Amino acid sequence: MTEQASAQQVVRDHLAKIHEQPQVPAAERVELRDKIKRLLKERNAVLVAHYYTDPEIQALAEETGGCVSDSLEMARFGRDHPASTLVVAGVKFMGETAKILSPEKQVFMPTLEATCSLDIGCPIEEFSAFCDQHPDRTVVVYANTSAAVKARADWVVTSSIALDVVDHLDSEGQKILWAPDKHLGDYVRRETGADVLLWDGACIVHEEFKAQGILDLKKVYPDAAVLVHPESPASVVAIADMVGSTTQIINAARDLPNKQMIIATDQGIFYKLQQLVPDKEFIIAPTAGSGATCRSCANCPWMAMNALDNLAYVLEHGGNEVHVDPALGVQAMKPLTRMLDFAAAKPKS
Ligand code: 13P
Ligand code: SF4
Repeated sequence: MTEQASAQQVVRDHLAKIHEQPQVPAAERVELRDKIKRLLKERNAVLVAHYYTDPEIQALAEETGGCVSDSLEMARFGRDHPASTLVVAGVKFMGETAKILSPEKQVFMPTLEATCSLDIGCPIEEFSAFCDQHPDRTVVVYANTSAAVKARADWVVTSSIALDVVDHLDSEGQKILWAPDKHLGDYVRRETGADVLLWDGACIVHEEFKAQGILDLKKVYPDAAVLVHPESPASVVAIADMVGSTTQIINAARDLPNKQMIIATDQGIFYKLQQLVPDKEFIIAPTAGSGATCRSCANCPWMAMNALDNLAYVLEHGGNEVHVDPALGVQAMKPLTRMLDFAAAKPKS
């Protein structure tokens, strides 16, 4: 089985498991939430969550002075927060990024099993050999990668800053080696006109969005704006009214005049969308081809592994601490810091 096919099987297995799993009863959920709040305080810990995690985890992060955001802001927030312990609800690369940027802090995750198809599809040995074949290129890697891949890079970027960084490098005449997301890399290449050589990786969630399905949906909602995450295929990006990171999608949903929005990213974002823009209607973009049994399967199976019970468990008992090889961490901190410094210097739009 190829990496991509096996990653797709993980999604199918995981979605099947979610449907099978009995829901934790409401009373137990209240107890878990109270316990998490108490333990965060006792442990001088702060909860840093991504928009794709369970809405109850996002709410807890907000209520306890943590943060809910895209991956760029998660990195910045974790680095700059004075708490001695970070609890990162998201996927592995987010926990590793937090540890690399704050080696002196303890970083925990509800589960260390939550990875990402982009990270899986970019093993360090092959990636390093690819870089060695192209020594004339500046190596730009997406944040959705291992610590070892970051350590091999000149720049790390997230989807919210990728265009600006590559535009800047292009203006200096630099040629780019981009990894791992081919869709985001191709989008960056088209938008900036830079010379970008692509690694062949993809997000198993965003790759499934279907342009034809969105066009069919537009017949039902002709006034809806189409908001797309750039990990989606070019055919989907081509029909978007706006393309951007999760935070940029939320801002566009607030700022665009349309009353209805078709959203091509993980459904976890609907919690924040509905909270911040309650007067608008959000419709998930279809992922299903003809004959499929689910209309949209836009749920990252790894993000969904973060739950109230495993979050409470790590706070109570420890375990699931994120460790990064210190030598790799020192190397990986350089391109990550370069990204955060670049973002901080960028005029606010
Ligand atoms: P953002 O940086 O836009 O939050 O994206 C992270 C991610 O993993 C999207 O699939
Ligand atoms: Fe990775 Fe895609 Fe999940 Fe984001 S949604 S963490 S890119 S698999």
